[in-house]
Order: sequence, then structure tokens, then C-alpha cells
Amino acid sequence: MNYLSDIKEILYSPRDIDERIQGLAKQIQTDYNGEDVVIISILKGSFIFTSDLIRYINLRLTIDFIHVSSYREGMTSKELIINKGLSSNINNKHVLLIDDIIDTGNTLKQVKEILTKENPLSIKTCVLYNKPSGRKVEMVADYVAYDVGNYFIVGYGLDYNEKYRNLPFVGILREEAITKI
Ligand code: IMP
Ligand code: MG
Repeated sequence: MNYLSDIKEILYSPRDIDERIQGLAKQIQTDYNGEDVVIISILKGSFIFTSDLIRYINLRLTIDFIHVSSYREGMTSKELIINKGLSSNINNKHVLLIDDIIDTGNTLKQVKEILTKENPLSIKTCVLYNKPSGRKVEMVADYVAYDVGNYFIVGYGLDYNEKYRNLPFVGILREEAITKI
């Protein structure tokens, strides 16, 4: 099956994303001002974004991953399940938490709360996409690459039913593709 034919519109090309990420990395590097940072990437959606972003950040950083799932009831994500926790100690460290997209806000808010209990020196959040129209809980990410409208996007790590993560661009899925999976 060819993924490309399932895409209605390409929103961000690989070049667009690369340029924006370089800008974001520069801002992060300036803000942390030479401090060491622990990058925590929320799997699976942010794995491509994280790997591209960190290569533009010239700081002494370490990387860890947390894998969570949220069980949705209707349109609202409910309880958060941790499939894989951290493998490092973040006590007294500067933490930068990275996710692919903030929609209802539940995932990032809950993961931030869980990590805050481990007493990091600071904790900030960074997302590739912010969908303000989806917000159900109060949550503002510290770093946002793009604000997006009220549509479902895939590619560059973002999935629909675990598919399309490997598309090199970000696009809107065709209605027909949603029903055929
Ligand atoms: P939240 O908890 O509602 O903020 O949801 C965040 C998670 O929902 C993301 O990590 C994605 O896995 C998923 N999500 C929300 N909107 C989209 C979208 O437009 N495309 C792909 N995944 C999305
Ligand atoms: Mg997902």
C-alpha cells in the first residue's frame, strides 16, 4: 500500500520542519545557557522530532524515554498508563520534556506531574505541534514549533492507528483513509 495516496494535503515539508527545528534548538540552547539538560522524549510520537532537535542543540545533554498510553473515552483522553518509565535519575537535574503534539493537554500535563514528583531542578516542555482548539485541561508548552488547526495530522512521527509515522512530511489524512484502516 502506498501511504502518499492517503494524504489530502501536505502541511509541512521536510525542509520547513528542519528550518523550524533549527530555530527552536537555538532558542533552547540560549535559554539553558550552558547548563546540563536531561531530554525526556515521550514515545512513540516524538522519536523523530527528538532525534532531529537534539542534533542542533549544543549542550551537554542526556536522553531518556518514557512510553505512555492514554485511554480515550469519546474525545477526552482519560487515565494515563505508563508502559515504560525512565531509566535515569532526574533528581536535581534540568529536564526538558518533549512530545509530538499537545491536543487535550492531558498527556503532557500528567507526564509533567509524574516527573515533577522526582524533584528535578527545573522542568520545561517542548512540542512540535500545539492544537489549541483541542484543549480540555490548562496546559501551555514552553516551546512550540507550530500551532495547528482543528484537523488530524500524520507523519514525521505522528500516527493514525500506528501508521504513517515514517512519512518525512506532515500532512492531513484523507477521510477515505480514516475509514479504510
Ligand atoms: P492529548 O493528551 O490529548 O494532548 O494528546 C496527545 C496525544 O494524542 C499525542 O501524543 C498524539 O499521540 C495524539 N494526537 C492528538 N492529536 C493528534 C493528531 O492530529 N495526529 C496524530 N496524533 C494526535
Ligand atoms: Mg499517537
